[in-house]
Order: sequence, then structure tokens, then C-alpha cells
Amino acid sequence: SPPGSDLQAWLAPRRSALDAFLQARLAQVWAPGFAEPLRYPVFAGGKRVRPALCFAAYDALAKAPDVPARAPDVPAPVLPAAAAVELVHSYSLVHDDLPAMDDDDERRGQPTVHVRFGEAVAILVGDALLTEAFAVLAASELSAEQRVAQIAALAGASGHLGMVGGQVADIAGDDADLECLTRLHRAKTGALITASCTLGGIAAGAGAQALAALEAYGQAVGLAFQLADDVLDAAEDAGEGGPPSFVRLLGLDATRARAAALADEAIEAAQALPRPGALVALARFSVERSV
Ligand code: IPE
Ligand code: IPE
Ligand code: MG
Repeated sequence: SPPGSDLQAWLAPRRSALDAFLQARLAQVWAPGFAEPLRYPVFAGGKRVRPALCFAAYDALAKAPDVPARAPDVPAPVLPAAAAVELVHSYSLVHDDLPAMDDDDERRGQPTVHVRFGEAVAILVGDALLTEAFAVLAASELSAEQRVAQIAALAGASGHLGMVGGQVADIAGDDADLECLTRLHRAKTGALITASCTLGGIAAGAGAQALAALEAYGQAVGLAFQLADDVLDAAEDAGEGGPPSFVRLLGLDATRARAAALADEAIEAAQALPRPGALVALARFSVERSV
């Protein structure tokens, strides 16, 4: 049944299945001293927002199981996609924290990978996690056509047209007005969030129309998530020279209002799909969250 009010109960078995899948994928490490740093950022308490969107997109389209009472909670065909988007996300944070980038010592209340294991190892951890994402997609049980579509979507969202491009715009300080800042965030965080939705849809066999709805949903949720992030960070972003922020350009109230409007837009897009319950709940969560 769709989660609606019970998002956590729907999420819990998916989270554990995802963790088990990721543990298995990262279990075999022969390179000396690499096992711990490789797993460290992946099991560091991330919210798993992108996998949740991937699962929700799958559920929005998947046929109801034949024997509902006996059907497993977590559908196997979507697990690799959920893992792949989290692997790309994890890599992006490891590299984002490096001295040459944001130079952050802490993430999720723990020392960052380069502080804990050294800069060279942190670069290699990021390289390995990014690469592993595509190995996971290539090895799934989906059809070759579905796997290629997922690989193409994730590559596009992660590379210079997507997240990497957004990071370049970020370090270039390309955030002078709302248009620049919106473009920056659509690329930096929106693209991977959108891909999380489309990869889940592809795993469920989505056609062009359903994929377009998932894309519209993902773009709206991705931007809403970023606006909510800026509201949460408002205190530290208030001054000059802070990170690019919608709060700095729009003020707190307008940023909140825009995030709520985008969540509504996402919900409307999701409602074109057969079983949008989890997508709707996640759109609400993306703007109402406190972490
Ligand atoms: C943090 O993303 C950085 C952004 C892209 C905004 P999340 O807020 O999803 O990070 P974790 O994985 O939950 O820590
Ligand atoms: C995180 O971006 C990295 C990517 C989205 C690729 P930010 O620098 O804006 O987020 P935090 O503050 O480090 O989590
Ligand atoms: Mg950063």
C-alpha cells in the first residue's frame, strides 16, 4: 500500500535492503588499506534521499504483485539503481570536501574522508565509488536496453552537463542572480535527484510518458530540496561571501514559499502516475524536513 502518512515504515525495509546490497558490493577489496576508507563515506549516516526517490518512482509504476501477502517488501529490480545513485552521491561528497574544493573537515558529524585517511586515498575513494555505480547498473538483472538507458541517464546527470557542471559553476561563483543560481542548482543537485527518479522508472519498465512525468517530478523536487537546504542553512549563509544561496537572493520567506510551490508542482506531476503515494510523501518531506 502507498505510504502516505507512514513514510518511515515504507522506507525502513528499503533502507536495510539497500545497505545490504551496498555492503555486498563493497565487500571485496584487495587493495591494501582500502576497505575501510571505501566503505566509510557510504555508511556514514546519509539520509538516502536519492535511493528513496528511486524506490518511490519504481513503486509509482510497478504492477501490483501477484500475491501481495507473500510479496517481498523490497522489489529486487530497483535495488541496483537505488545503490548506483547513492554511490554517485557519496563520491560527489568525498570530492566536494577535499582541500582543493570546499576544504571541509567534517561531514555528518564525522571527520571527512581526506582528514581521516589522507587526500590521495580520498580522491581514489571517490573515483572508485563513481566507477562502481556504473558497474552495479551494468550487472543488474534488467534487460540490456533498460541497463543502457539507466547508464546513459546516470552518466548525463553526473558529468559536465549535470553535477560536475554545477560544481564548476559553484566554484566559479556563478550565482549573481536567480537565473544563474537556479541553473547552478538544477545541475549540481537537481540532475542527480531527477536521475534517481528516472532510473527507478526505467527499472519498472516506464514508457516515455511516465518518464516525462518522473522527470518533471524530479526537477521540481530537486530544486525544492535545495531551497529547503538553503532555509536550513540560512544562519550561516546570511552574510556576504557565503555559499550560493536562494535565501541570500530572495530572503527567508520567499525561499520557503518557493520551496512549497515546487513541492506542489512535483506532487501534481506525480499524480499522473498509477501509484504516486511514496513520491507524494517524499515531495512533502523534501520541504518539511529539519535535517
Ligand atoms: C547534501 O546532500 C549535499 C547536497 C547535494 C545538497 P544530502 O542532504 O542528501 O546529504 P546526505 O547524504 O543526507 O548527508
Ligand atoms: C555538495 O554540495 C556536493 C554536490 C552537490 C556535488 P555543497 O558543497 O553545496 O553541499 P555540502 O554543504 O558540502 O553538503
Ligand atoms: Mg560542500
